[in-house]
Amino acid sequence: MRVLGIETSCDETGIAVYDAKHGLLAHEIYSQIEIHNQYGGVVPELASRDHIQKTLPLIDSTLRQAGISKRQLDGIAYTAGPGLMGALLVGAAIGRSLAWGLQVPAVQVHHMEGHLLAPLLENKTIEFPFLALLVSGGHTQLIKARALGDYQLLGESIDDAVGEAFDKTAKMLGLDYPGGPQVEKIAQQGQPEKYLFPRPMTNRPGLDFSYSGLKTFAINTYNASEKTPQDKANVALAFQTAAIDTLTLKCKRAIKQTSLKTLIIAGGVSANQYLRQSMDKLATQTGVNVHYPGKDFCTDNGAMIAFAGYLRLLHEHHTSLAFSALPRWPLTDLRPPGEG
Ligand code: KG4
Ligand code: ZN
Repeated sequence: MRVLGIETSCDETGIAVYDAKHGLLAHEIYSQIEIHNQYGGVVPELASRDHIQKTLPLIDSTLRQAGISKRQLDGIAYTAGPGLMGALLVGAAIGRSLAWGLQVPAVQVHHMEGHLLAPLLENKTIEFPFLALLVSGGHTQLIKARALGDYQLLGESIDDAVGEAFDKTAKMLGLDYPGGPQVEKIAQQGQPEKYLFPRPMTNRPGLDFSYSGLKTFAINTYNASEKTPQDKANVALAFQTAAIDTLTLKCKRAIKQTSLKTLIIAGGVSANQYLRQSMDKLATQTGVNVHYPGKDFCTDNGAMIAFAGYLRLLHEHHTSLAFSALPRWPLTDLRPPGEG
């Protein structure tokens, strides 16, 4: 089976072809960063308009790279949510129409399930059940993944997502969008002893997170400084350390609470090297196996959608022409394939 994946939930157009036998045949990403950078964040209407222009040409070039024609596809997977309504509708409309034209099934994929399964794309030894920490621009969630489509929410952010806090802190420091990689870059020049930021919600039990106060703490600290490049680096380092240490501490708690032996970290923030060092250390301490997505599959991409869609299409055979986009769609609403 060969599945085309279409990701258009936010500011990246991601297209990929996943093959049951040979794995990922090709994947391409077109990033809209340059369009949104001047506004300091994603402008939804500009995002949808750009997806309309880029999706079809990107499908053609990805198929060319995979060395196959549209007729050799057995299914289409597209991100149906959560995300920006207009952006999602582009992928959904193109995905459904293409499937209808080719007379193959189409399947709607949950964007966060795509992220959660991304490490399995290249590592087939990972087995359910496992613990998953999903860290992106819109989500910070600890999930007990019992089986494909069977997810229990253990904890989540009560306000800003961790990626969002990275982005807002970066914007305040005058760094480009998206801010996560920029904060990580300048943090390398930071002086570790200069500031100690709070670790929100770690002094009480539970697995929820809060990042809004930490972001404000970073802003206030920077505003009270001389605002030199060194001050910027010091604030970036203190923020990153506090944000990641909090994630690590909650993962440690969740490991203890669930006794699960596998931990998956996925979503855009999983690209952060300090996060990986910290989680690797935790894995050694607790005897848990930790897995991350490959370099290209941390932030939004079509490969994770093609792969998640493939796993679902093994059991589901929708050919209906009706489609919907679900800007808000809790991961826990999903059901195992064939049961929904
Ligand atoms: O998963 P993703 O591409 O999109 C969403 O589903 O939201 O995640 C994007 C988020 C952004 O907030 C971005 O700043 C953050 O991931 N991010 C990082 C890094 N790379 C991306 N945060 C910290 N360190 C990084 N290296
Ligand atoms: Zn994402």
